[in-house]
Amino acid sequence: MRLATRLQGLQANVFADMDRAKQAAVAAGLPLCDLSLGSSDLPVPPHVVAAIQESLQNSRSFGYTLFGATADFRRAIAQWLQTKFAVTVDPETEVLPLIGSQEGTGHLPLAVLEPGEVALLQNPGYPSHYGGVALAGGVPHGLELRPEHGFLPQWDSIPKDVLARARLLVLSYPHNPTAAIAPPGFWEEAVAFCRRYDLILAHDFPYVDFVLDGELPPSVLSVDRDRERSVEFFSLSKSYHMGGLRVGFAVGNRELIAALRQVKAAVDFNQYRGILQGAIAALTGPQDHLQQTRQILRERRDAAVAAFRAIGWEVPVPAATMYLWVPLPGGQPSLGFCQDLVKTTGVALSPGSGFGSAGEGYVRLALVQPPAVLQAAIAAIGKFR
Ligand SMILES: Cc1ncc(COP(=O)(O)O)c(C=O)c1O
Repeated sequence: MRLATRLQGLQANVFADMDRAKQAAVAAGLPLCDLSLGSSDLPVPPHVVAAIQESLQNSRSFGYTLFGATADFRRAIAQWLQTKFAVTVDPETEVLPLIGSQEGTGHLPLAVLEPGEVALLQNPGYPSHYGGVALAGGVPHGLELRPEHGFLPQWDSIPKDVLARARLLVLSYPHNPTAAIAPPGFWEEAVAFCRRYDLILAHDFPYVDFVLDGELPPSVLSVDRDRERSVEFFSLSKSYHMGGLRVGFAVGNRELIAALRQVKAAVDFNQYRGILQGAIAALTGPQDHLQQTRQILRERRDAAVAAFRAIGWEVPVPAATMYLWVPLPGGQPSLGFCQDLVKTTGVALSPGSGFGSAGEGYVRLALVQPPAVLQAAIAAIGKFR
């Protein structure tokens, strides 16, 4: 069958290879310890579950949820942004509900890129950033993130001819997979860079609440105050442990929001109203679980780093996110290492190469199990080597 050539632009998916390796481990009778996905094991706050349960009893909650019907959620988002960042947005024109933030960052290039235009993306970076650009016929240009630069892009490394064709810069800090945070002044620099080269700035911000050592990171909208060229993507998957419910949102420049809404209108009708009710409860209800989540992640992080040190691996202590970005000793290819590891021990990690060429030489471990489980998994890695 002849399929669309644009599929060729989609990255070879090493996560599909890992999925097969995990299945082989299970088929061989190994107990799977899956530390390869950033899928929270922690409970959704009870008031969120209650709001969804209540919706389920309401027979009128099951219809399509067109834009007009998301007004309460959009208002809750605007209120949340005001409380958290002292940023004021118009819920009608500067807010857009999403079926997970990945849906938004994946669709954005269709709204802003002409075929052949360049999107500047982090390498390593989140795979859907690349996928969205490929589907839009854009040209991804990876900004290599190196430890010696704090995993920050080096603006002066971008060739002039690439910049001339660039239309979009996608950034994400706290960063998956490297767990890096943006230092003070970084966003001012990024916004100034985008002004200078007339770029749209998209900030993917799902780990907003997961700075483990330090302050709440700033919203790009508190730097690009006039919302001249920025759009920011948030998720309820991490902060509220709602990954499977698929809910997130975009806020920012009204032209960008309208354009993204136009693309979405061709594709989806938003999600079930009960999920939006849950999301409203999450954003407007008590936020004390965030402190607890950060404490849990700190304990897991510290236990995991100590366990790696005990097997002789030097792992930097991440200041943010729910991941360890682990340099692989011995320079072996990360996919092969992760495939062999899961088939031998049942411990699944993510190969760094799945996040881009500059991720090679690393594996990512998600802190989605209690300390004792992480310690046992890392001890198994020590024996496997
Ligand atoms: C950088 C980044 N963006 C987006 C997502 C997905 O978020 P959502 O569940 O809201 O689609 C993730 C999930 O791991 C992520 O790490």
